[in-house]
Amino acid sequence: MTEISSIKSSFESIIKKIKSNNDLDQLQIKYLGRKGLVNNLLQSIDRLTQDERKDFGIKINELKTLIKHLIKVKRQELLKIENASDYIDITLPGKKYPKGSLHLVTYGVEEITKIFSRIGFIRMSYPEVEWEHYSFEALNMPKGHPARDDFETFFIDEPAHPKYGKMVLTPHTSSGQIREMQRLGKPPIRMINIGKCYRPNWDTSHTPMFHQFEGMAVDMGINITHLKGTINYFAKEFFGENRKIRLRPFHFQFTEPSFEVDITCGVCNGTGLLRNPEGSEAQKCRLCKSGWLELGGSGMIHPNVLKSGNIDSKKYSGWAFGFGIERVMMMKEGLKLDDLRIMYNNDIRFLEQF
Ligand code: PHE
Repeated sequence: MTEISSIKSSFESIIKKIKSNNDLDQLQIKYLGRKGLVNNLLQSIDRLTQDERKDFGIKINELKTLIKHLIKVKRQELLKIENASDYIDITLPGKKYPKGSLHLVTYGVEEITKIFSRIGFIRMSYPEVEWEHYSFEALNMPKGHPARDDFETFFIDEPAHPKYGKMVLTPHTSSGQIREMQRLGKPPIRMINIGKCYRPNWDTSHTPMFHQFEGMAVDMGINITHLKGTINYFAKEFFGENRKIRLRPFHFQFTEPSFEVDITCGVCNGTGLLRNPEGSEAQKCRLCKSGWLELGGSGMIHPNVLKSGNIDSKKYSGWAFGFGIERVMMMKEGLKLDDLRIMYNNDIRFLEQF
């Protein structure tokens, strides 16, 4: 019996050091061959009593099985080392590739498109590189008009067109109003124009590239109630059933009257107040402070703008609104970002959360 365990331990220590198939073959012959150590040991069974033989036989068999197993494992190991490049261990779990996701703004564009298509608004995309004419003149903002300063603009370094002026990176989606009126030639028009816009601002709440969606409806008898109803519908679909909007008088050169659109704050439910749990005195809502959040601009399309689109302003009327996509996404997701630029830093830790 002591011989069995000494063969076992000597085998175990030798096999550890084996580095080639050749050596492994030799070792196999030495231990398991016809005249090998294990068979030799088996011969000594003659010297044992009948009782001892059975136990001895079992132990020898165990040793044989162990040696065979260790040789098999070693062969695989050697194979792996020799063909490191094309060895395939089919028992390994497969590689998991990281799954991508869409950008927050892309989700926004898709959802906004769907919401408006349900009420018959056609999705359009108009040029990102636009003429001054479409961005300003046709929108009732002649050269030198101070309102143009609100849309601080990137100019393309190319000679001006005699009729359309300089090329610009489109500073708002409102130029799409003119292009859509000219494309269709006559009402009814129901358009949602979604696109990239550019203005030279770079701070915690502005990036030089951002997105807007511009809604427009033109037909006979279109009035402010349709504007309000449409934005209300959007607000409920996009933000939730219990949100409400309001129109607040404002000024835009291309709409008259003009409004800024506010929506009730989702945190305080439009009350502007947050109740303390004990029922003691309520505090001002930290997000909105007043119960309302600003969505963007809107108004009834100015007759001069309809004229630029070759539409008879005596017969037809229309409205338009323009909202920022980054802004509505932040309001929807409840993201209280202290720096909006993180949306475009391509930091995977931010992006993969959506
Ligand atoms: N174009 C305006 C802006 O960029 C928004 C707007 C669109 C206002 C349509 C009125 C009508 O701020």
